[in-house]
Amino acid sequence: MIPAPSEPGARDFRFTDEDFRALARLARAEFGLSLAESKKPLVYSRLARRLRAREISRFQDYMALLGTPDAADERLELISALTTNVTSFFREKHHFETLRQALIPDFPQQSRVRIWSAGCSSGQEPFSIAMTILDALPDAAQRDIRILATDIDPAIVRRAKAAQYTQEEVETIPSELRRSWIGLGARADQFEMAAAPRQMISFAELNLIDPWPFHGPFDAIFCRNVAIYFDQDTQQTLWGRFATMLRDDGFLFIGHSERVSGPALQTLATAGVTTYRKKPASGGAVAT
Ligand SMILES: C[S@@+](CC[C@H](N)C(=O)[O-])C[C@H]1O[C@@H](n2cnc3c(N)ncnc32)[C@H](O)[C@@H]1O
Repeated sequence: MIPAPSEPGARDFRFTDEDFRALARLARAEFGLSLAESKKPLVYSRLARRLRAREISRFQDYMALLGTPDAADERLELISALTTNVTSFFREKHHFETLRQALIPDFPQQSRVRIWSAGCSSGQEPFSIAMTILDALPDAAQRDIRILATDIDPAIVRRAKAAQYTQEEVETIPSELRRSWIGLGARADQFEMAAAPRQMISFAELNLIDPWPFHGPFDAIFCRNVAIYFDQDTQQTLWGRFATMLRDDGFLFIGHSERVSGPALQTLATAGVTTYRKKPASGGAVAT
């Protein structure tokens, strides 16, 4: 929304190439984000919203605010403004077919199963994983099968935990799964995930470029449509870190426009469309 001229905060603010570069440096250092010069108009309009919200009229003042020790909340608002939370149930559904056909048949023989949805947005990805498992393995809830779902954005993690979705959002769930795992929501126009899929998932805030407070190993990692925002160095570091988090033969699923590159290819082999598998005996993570 464009504010009336009398409202405080930025309507038009000065945003030079040097300002853009300063912001791009900060976004890279703090969040691993890559902001190409071509994104300057988009960044400008997203930033204008933040300046208005903070009733700030100059870009320099906004940068100064970000530099203060207690600007943690604004930094998170900034990353929300610079990235998108777009997601949907069963997005890129071939990954869920691979989960069903190549991973789940082995689960009954495993004492423990761990799956990570890294950059889970509002929860549709981890819930699609949970519904796929529950559908294929009726006693899944009684087994040690856990899904970790993380995102940098606290507001989106809260939304994911609430597990409330609109009619339009639940429409991409296959109807038999919808019948089993979706009920009426807190409000008349909402739908809610059933208890069984909710109980399989632990949601948490996590910036993927920070240290990770867990060690795995994971049977599968879904990190889809997240690394696309990162510069190449950050992406390559991330692929390598995911590789060490996977068990041997574990799967890494990435987004449709992403590709693993760099040293991680020594440990990750292509195993289908935007699907990789950890080569055996390439050094697994230690169970914790
Ligand atoms: C486009 S959504 C992808 C959601 C889901 N993985 C999918 O493919 O449908 C990208 C998500 O990545 C999150 N994200 C962006 N940068 C991140 C970072 N540095 N650490 C963790 N999550 C991040 C955003 O908050 C957003 O929810």
